[in-house]
Amino acid sequence: MPIQWFPGHMASARKKAAEAMAAIDVVIEVTDARLPEASSNPMIGELRRFRNRPCLKLLNKSDLADPAVTRAWMEHYNRQPGVRAVAISAKNAAEVARIPALCKQLAPHRDDGTKPLRMMIMGIPNVGKSTLMNALLKRKVAKVGDEPAVTKHQQTLDLGPGQTLTDTPGMMWPKIEFDADGYMLAASHAIGRNAVIDEEVAAFLGDILIARYPALLAARYKLDAAGLDGPGLVEAVGRKRGCLVKGGGLDLEKAALILLQDYRDGALGRVSLETPETRAEMIAAARAAQTEAEGESDQAPLDDVEE
Ligand code: G4P
Repeated sequence: MPIQWFPGHMASARKKAAEAMAAIDVVIEVTDARLPEASSNPMIGELRRFRNRPCLKLLNKSDLADPAVTRAWMEHYNRQPGVRAVAISAKNAAEVARIPALCKQLAPHRDDGTKPLRMMIMGIPNVGKSTLMNALLKRKVAKVGDEPAVTKHQQTLDLGPGQTLTDTPGMMWPKIEFDADGYMLAASHAIGRNAVIDEEVAAFLGDILIARYPALLAARYKLDAAGLDGPGLVEAVGRKRGCLVKGGGLDLEKAALILLQDYRDGALGRVSLETPETRAEMIAAARAAQTEAEGESDQAPLDDVEE
């Protein structure tokens, strides 16, 4: 499922983010704790490193993620220079209240009582940027918006004495390198339904759940996932939930949506789609497949050469 797009508003969001990066002190990057790398736009890292700006990496929606996996990700990120990782739920006011102080620690040079601490929230769509912004400001501010129809401009607001907060639109990137990232993003609803097929996404999610969270499947659907694969799990969920089309066949689309919705809402339990290890394995496998494919295509013209 190669996913590629670059709507105009995302190109302009990138340009604006690059400009804004020059005028801020700390980047607050919001990611989804269930898929921290897949939900991290590589462009944000590039822009940030280019300007040498420190990053408070928020693993948001940690209330939905597997706590042990979230801990592993935090260790992973906290080893990176200029990065401090924190797991939060943007819906939890006490957790959100810690953020300005953490940003302050990352930009000690701004702490002389004269210069304001300028923070900027960045992240892909649907990771919780607006929820976070509202919680930080303790009031509802208009969403800068990921949809073309919503206002797309950045806004800078006063957070408190000597602190400003800039909000940026959700930013996707032009080409998702790994198919697995596309599926993880779709499962978590960062990519709209028009871009992907629910049944394929549910089968991908199913494979992860079977491998790592069979007990959650058993508890939710009263089924034994042993021996099933992703598509088989979607079918099994459909049977358990009576998803039938006229004539008696299984309504696989409906079954897929049940599985996806149960994951998205946390009804399945706390699930993480990737760990530092699974990600390293996924990348190594994708690179190996790419090298092999390149080898084959280098070979092909030689085979075709006539004697
Ligand atoms: P965005 O600005 O980055 O696009 O994200 P936004 O804040 O709009 O949040 C996207 C969805 O994620 C919202 O759900 C929001 O409530 C939910 N969300 C944000 N942070 C958290 C969190 O820490 N934990 C959990 N469990 N959910 C979170 P929604 O279904 O679109 O709306 P709602 O009905 O839940 O408000």
